[in-house]
Amino acid sequence: MSARLRLLIADDSTPTRDSLRRLLEFEPDIEVIGEAADGEEAITQARLLHPDVILMDINMSPVDGITATEVISTEIPRSVIVMMSVQGEQEYLRQAMTAGARDYLTKPFSGDELVHTLQNAYTRESKRWQQVGARLSLPQDHKGEVITIFSAKGGVGKTTIATNLAALLSEEMGKSVIIVDLDLQFGDVPILLDFVPRRTIVDLTGGDEWGQDEVQHCLYQYSPNLRVMAPPTRPEEAELVSGSHIKQLIGTLKGLADYVIIDTAQSFDEPILAALDESDSIAIIATLDIPTIKNVRLCLEVMQDVLDYPVDKTRLVVNRAAEDIGIKASVLEEKLGIGISAKIPSDGRLAVQAANTGIPFVLSNPRSEITQGIRQLATKVTGDEEATSLEEVPSRGFLGRLLRHGTT
Ligand SMILES: Nc1ncnc2c1ncn2[C@@H]1O[C@H](COP(=O)(O)OP(=O)(O)OP(=O)(O)O)[C@@H](O)[C@H]1O
Ligand SMILES: [Mg+2]
Repeated sequence: MSARLRLLIADDSTPTRDSLRRLLEFEPDIEVIGEAADGEEAITQARLLHPDVILMDINMSPVDGITATEVISTEIPRSVIVMMSVQGEQEYLRQAMTAGARDYLTKPFSGDELVHTLQNAYTRESKRWQQVGARLSLPQDHKGEVITIFSAKGGVGKTTIATNLAALLSEEMGKSVIIVDLDLQFGDVPILLDFVPRRTIVDLTGGDEWGQDEVQHCLYQYSPNLRVMAPPTRPEEAELVSGSHIKQLIGTLKGLADYVIIDTAQSFDEPILAALDESDSIAIIATLDIPTIKNVRLCLEVMQDVLDYPVDKTRLVVNRAAEDIGIKASVLEEKLGIGISAKIPSDGRLAVQAANTGIPFVLSNPRSEITQGIRQLATKVTGDEEATSLEEVPSRGFLGRLLRHGTT
């Protein structure tokens, strides 16, 4: 979060938006970062900008403030919503608070009232998030299972799978999850989860020893159940991170979450080897084409013959599975001598949309086939065979789903 409170104003009256901007013009701690003229635009802007606070009019058309609040508070829970209404809209206001708004202002209001309400709501919510983080860090019985997402080729979908698996385990299955971006030169977990890291793994490397406190200080709290260890912000910083750093880091993270998901680069360098060693399971991502299969075979040989990993430590995951254009999955299993644990279908539209909006598709499109592929993988890694099937996925609100682009 930046020092200045980043505000989005949503009101269907241009003169009202202008006068709100004027009221805040000389406020040093608040920056108006965007405007929206109805609820749908507010949702789009919120997805794009992730504002700290959204000042939302209750009555807008065609999509009103309550509907927008329902969608935003689910998808972008860290954006605090403050409703604006006029006298006599008490019933609407109640609905808005139920939908997730945190405070309200009754029009007309003064500049002082406006500033106070925005800042108070923001401070209160920030404290609440800190408390949630602190509660999560209390000594608890964490499963501490480490799953590394690895591949023998670049661009096969490791980061897409790592971020969506982490989001599904944490949001849908209620597990505490930490995702570590070990693509130390060009990691893009922060981009796929749409945040700018303030601290990264490099901040840990200064000290010789560290404990849970130091590690937690470097984690970004994405949602109550999901935290992220961000990669270095500059490629040249990658060399500051050694294999022994990673061994120590994973040892600490195991005590902090049920699942530690590690995204990797296509390499057997020292930090990644350390992560593979420390993993309970390794998901090797393959696509159905000859060069990838050749490399997956090499990779399995290294893991079994050189690194001496037990056979059941590795799992094969097929991404962009489309048998009509690639090699048949059964042929792949036969060639590699290993069964396929999960098949994730190809869906370029949802994969790209998730990358561009910063919202994992498992959250925005829980009923899609590609999400079902991730769910199949989650089921395998958790051993929770009773995990939700496609038919049982809970609806996240009819209007919310209607408003999601291209929900399937
Ligand atoms: N199941 C899928 N269907 C369609 N497109 C996909 C799928 N999985 C990933 N993609 C797309 O493939 C591209 C590469 O994905 P991603 O960045 O996750 O791969 P990666 O293995 O992490 O790459 P790198 O080796 O560069 O880190 C992205 O554009 C992503 O949106
Ligand atoms: Mg990647």
